[in-house]
Amino acid sequence: MPVLVNVEGQLVPPEQATVSVFDRGFLYGDSVYEVARTYGGRPFELGRHLDRMDRSADRIGLTLPPRERIEGEIQRTLDAARNPESYVRIVVTRGEGRFGLSPHLAQGMSRMFVIVRPLEPAPREQYEKGLQVAVTLTRRNPTACLDPSLKTGNYMNNILALREAHAAGADDALLLDLRGQVTEASTSNVFFVQKGIVVTPPLALGMLQGVTRTVVLEVARGEGLIVREEPFGPEALAAADEVFVTSTIREVMPVTSLVLLGGAAPDVRRIGDRKQGPVTRRLHEAFRKYVARTHGA
Ligand code: PDD
Repeated sequence: MPVLVNVEGQLVPPEQATVSVFDRGFLYGDSVYEVARTYGGRPFELGRHLDRMDRSADRIGLTLPPRERIEGEIQRTLDAARNPESYVRIVVTRGEGRFGLSPHLAQGMSRMFVIVRPLEPAPREQYEKGLQVAVTLTRRNPTACLDPSLKTGNYMNNILALREAHAAGADDALLLDLRGQVTEASTSNVFFVQKGIVVTPPLALGMLQGVTRTVVLEVARGEGLIVREEPFGPEALAAADEVFVTSTIREVMPVTSLVLLGGAAPDVRRIGDRKQGPVTRRLHEAFRKYVARTHGA
């Protein structure tokens, strides 16, 4: 069965996977979630994903089911779906209670859902030709407002940026912080390469601590590359030898053109020679080797 949903422990096809309109996840985005994927049928870095979900839940005062139950339900859903490789979304909402914003109204009954569907990786050509990414006027939420390190069901900041990027004809959005420093893309982290040095923004600027970002930093250091976590603006990206984004689904995906919005007309800058650069390729291969080492895939 290609798409299978686990609703509070019940495995059902998508058309039967429903949630109450009073669920706070539906009403307010009062939920946390993770997106993992399998390699060789086994979830990749599930421990890091669930650690991040713990941190998100902790910060919003949401009680998660015990770790063993979450892991068990994920495995049960994967086993029943029997896809060669799966996309796995784990969602825990604050549940429902008396109507109103106050989290105290929820009756302490968080709800867990696991959505498993066949993995749809980006086509191979995409890794050759890369993405076009627009630097949007929509800025990333400041950490003091809705901290982007929390993976909650409230993704409106990212959705607004993506709307802007799509209106400009770009594949994805790149968001700056209020000071104009690059933070991350709508569902990926960002890196650039200049004279062989790999640079990515520091987490303190406000972004998701990507599991792929962490693994890429580890393998880049393992490759003997110089890696820096430091702030930079969009001009540094436009002038870079190579730019790439990282995420669970995209792995290490080149960005080969940048659209700067806000001027009279969109300012399109090509990056490098508009195809996957050598360091990006090397890091993607090193990432794949890490996967093979840890998952035998
Ligand atoms: N997105 N930044 C944001 C805002 C994200 O939502 C994600 C993940 C990332 C990359 O994190 P990771 O390497 O752990 O996937 C960065 C997932 C894929 C999603 O919501 O679909």
